[in-house]
Amino acid sequence: MGKSITHKIIEKHLVSGEMVPGQEVGLRIDQTLTQDATGTMAWLQYEAIGIGEVRTDLSVSYVDHNTLQMGFRNPDDHRYLRTVAAQSGAIFSPAGTGICHQLHLENFAKPGATLIGSDSHTPTAGGIGSMAMGAGGLSVALGMAGEAYFIPMPKVVKVHLTGELTGWAAGKDVILELLRRLTVKGGVGKVFEYGGPGVAALSVPDRATITNMGAELGATTSIFPSDDKTKDFLTKMGRPCDFVELVADEDASFDEIIEINLSELEPMVAQPHMPDQVCKVRDLAGKKIDQCAIGSCTNSSYSDLKNTAQILSGKKTPPETDLLISPGSKQVMKMLSREGLIEPLLDAGARVLECTCGPCIGMGGSPTSGGVSVRTFNRNFEGRSGTLDGQVYLVSAQTAARLALDGEFSDPATWGPAPERIELPDDVPSIRDLFVFPPEDKDSVEILRGPNIVALEDFTELPKTVQAKILLKVEDNITTDHILPAGAEITALRSNIPAISQYIFNRVDADFVGRMKNHGTGVILGGENYGQGSSREHAALGPRHLGVKAVIVKSLARIHRANLVNFGILPLLLVNPADYDRLELGAELTIPAGDMTPGGTLEITTASGDAIPVINDLTKKELDIIQSGGLLNAVRQSQS
Ligand code: F3S
Repeated sequence: MGKSITHKIIEKHLVSGEMVPGQEVGLRIDQTLTQDATGTMAWLQYEAIGIGEVRTDLSVSYVDHNTLQMGFRNPDDHRYLRTVAAQSGAIFSPAGTGICHQLHLENFAKPGATLIGSDSHTPTAGGIGSMAMGAGGLSVALGMAGEAYFIPMPKVVKVHLTGELTGWAAGKDVILELLRRLTVKGGVGKVFEYGGPGVAALSVPDRATITNMGAELGATTSIFPSDDKTKDFLTKMGRPCDFVELVADEDASFDEIIEINLSELEPMVAQPHMPDQVCKVRDLAGKKIDQCAIGSCTNSSYSDLKNTAQILSGKKTPPETDLLISPGSKQVMKMLSREGLIEPLLDAGARVLECTCGPCIGMGGSPTSGGVSVRTFNRNFEGRSGTLDGQVYLVSAQTAARLALDGEFSDPATWGPAPERIELPDDVPSIRDLFVFPPEDKDSVEILRGPNIVALEDFTELPKTVQAKILLKVEDNITTDHILPAGAEITALRSNIPAISQYIFNRVDADFVGRMKNHGTGVILGGENYGQGSSREHAALGPRHLGVKAVIVKSLARIHRANLVNFGILPLLLVNPADYDRLELGAELTIPAGDMTPGGTLEITTASGDAIPVINDLTKKELDIIQSGGLLNAVRQSQS
């Protein structure tokens, strides 16, 4: 039986387990990436492990999220990241060099390599055949320490592409179509492996957009073959030696096959406030647009922005419609500048921002109250833009540029000739010198910390019997943005758990933190897909600091589940989803945590004696981690 690309890479990196869907496999990790919002904590954890030099082939610490330096906190954190990377043998990418995923794709990702990153859009590197997964910061810290990364062996879904994109359709529309069909829960436990004759016609940036936003399906990762297009891309990036061909065997078997005819796609849009609320752009014709934002790790490549510049050239956006553009990297910016493509952007009325995440993470560029913001990003969760009632719509770069001119949604049939498909030039400028490579004499590097960097607290073991009240009851599809909102004020506290914990769930229930302080311990009750979205482990660390002992839900998102385990919070799944309605805020629960067996059922009892059956879908190792108070405790125990 032939093998898929996914199986080939996993087999080559397998250190434990068997490739049976659902069973835990341990993978050797070749590369890691961290970004600053999650990275300071990942690096503090790495220091706490006490390993010295990183044991991966390559680890990169990027600064792209919290680049506003409006006080000492962010600059101090950036300095900490630069110095800890230098002492640990990692590469450092300073603020403004670019967005981690765009930079990693351009400069470091390799076909066939394993990569974990403390950012959920790490699968962007799957666009060139890397097995790239988003992970919690602690998992990445352990990866840097040479430890395996453990995941349930995913099912492999082949997305069989035929035809080719026509008209105004773009790579973004492929993933929006998949989100429309499968929803934000449709990819859990799965790798989406692209194949079929349609692959050859998709550029690497289109492929990377698709794998980037596979994260919104909840997928473990997404991956494209490494083929002639990949070879051309790596050659133009000055890295021809990194190319290896990687395709699925002709007779490879897959757990599922999905067909998409690219020729049938047209511009699509994800409507507020979920990436799977997808419809056709033409269905919204006439809706006024207050803001367009082009950029983010999803759509900020040279081809995206060259298309944008060509669409806007010689035209002007209406005064009611703001246009923001954030290039993905200084390499992209240099190419635009060299080709005279910045000027048409400026003349059209655009604000050209730094090469950072910017508006995607609410770092400036928030829409007006209730404003309609059309963005090329990957997420449109409520409040993520920095404006709580902002209405964020997700589209491709060329659709955003065209809509910015109209100032309202319109029918692509009226847009005129479609933009050309952009190829990279042969002489792509290098920005390699902008990275800070570790010095020879690493021991001479002093790690510099500011007052905002607070060492990690020690977490106690999970009690054998947890007695606690439900101190928060939330609905389905709670995102990590609900748990801990993004935005400049809050993320500046990412290295200071006691301070950042004061913001936990404060936009969902402003009294939650107060209740936790009063009671000391508590339980959260949630619905389906709890913890979807960003990989931020502060969404587990914060509740843990406040005293949350267990999260009882209908279902859990993958990375957040891993973060809960890593920080010693017990994730429990309701056997009967209807029990959600029987449990009320304030209900006192007794959880016999000491009696748990891996993957077993457990009965929680309420003060009135009702029994609520729950499952822990935990492995023995995960259970040990939780019972010892978290992964850091478990690693220290195993080392001692
Ligand atoms: Fe940055 Fe937004 Fe991507 S925060 S890493 S551009 S999802």
